[in-house]
Amino acid sequence: MSLKGKHALVTGGSRGIGRGIAVKLAESGARVAVHYYVNQAAAKETLERVRKHGADGFLVQADVSRMEDVQRMFGEVRRAFGTLDIFVANARPEAAKFYQKPMDITLEAWDHAMDSQAKAFLVGVRESVGIMGQGGRIVAVTYAPGGQKGTWQPWVAMGSAKAALESLVRYFAVTLAPRGITVNSVSPGLTDDSVLNSFPQAAVDTARAWHASGWTPMGRMGTPADIGNVVALLCSPDAAWITGQLIHADGGASLVDTLLPLEMQRG
Ligand SMILES: NC(=O)c1ccc[n+]([C@@H]2O[C@H](COP(=O)([O-])OP(=O)(O)OC[C@H]3O[C@@H](n4cnc5c(N)ncnc54)[C@H](OP(=O)(O)O)[C@@H]3O)[C@@H](O)[C@H]2O)c1
Repeated sequence: MSLKGKHALVTGGSRGIGRGIAVKLAESGARVAVHYYVNQAAAKETLERVRKHGADGFLVQADVSRMEDVQRMFGEVRRAFGTLDIFVANARPEAAKFYQKPMDITLEAWDHAMDSQAKAFLVGVRESVGIMGQGGRIVAVTYAPGGQKGTWQPWVAMGSAKAALESLVRYFAVTLAPRGITVNSVSPGLTDDSVLNSFPQAAVDTARAWHASGWTPMGRMGTPADIGNVVALLCSPDAAWITGQLIHADGGASLVDTLLPLEMQRG
């Protein structure tokens, strides 16, 4: 699968899942604009990995909760690449900016989650299609359980924002279908070597053991490379007929029924 000659923008490409996506797209031949917010050193490291694969790219800084920043980011992409074939909306603010329960959350924290996900995607897609030809690819990285469940109380703003993002994906898929541009969401399961690893080691170990015990049927957490592979597949020419879909890239975790003991489900 070759993406040679293609130009991609990956938001949140400085680390975690975004880095996995940027590196995989580069491995497939695409030039990559690596976006970051404050962590320029990490973004440089991603760009070095992109270049190791013989691809090229550049760094672009923006706060995706500020629409003037989102517009400036696309202006920089236009000046550097002239065109864009792949837009991956992956960036997500630190939990401290929005992690509050439904009865406590401030409107500022709510807006930060909504603006950084739904509004940034609305503006980002409209900016990207201005420089995208026929057959472009747009991928939103979501966390679908956050929008469907209700037990992780302080996740209310991000869960609602991701649900809005997933809805926008479907509307844009229809809008952009006549131009052959596909728009899809990818929902990773819990992923190693990401924001998760900023938690205490004991919590990371517990998470790994939980998934190894069967809550992810494939017996492990995902990696940024796993998610990069899925995004690259969706960006390939052969994926032209897939649009408006939510792909669970989670080793089967979303198939497990929480109402039954695992031993019964394993048969
Ligand atoms: N990790 C998981 O297990 C998991 C599971 C399901 C879904 N996801 C989704 O996958 C995506 C990536 O998650 P991750 O865990 O890889 O994230 P991460 O390691 O925390 O990285 C977050 C990225 O977003 C950027 N960012 C933070 N605040 C920003 C802002 N205000 N404006 C623009 N960019 C900002 C960061 O840039 P700097 O480096 O410059 O700070 C960084 O590149 C997110 O959309 C998340 O919801 C993650």
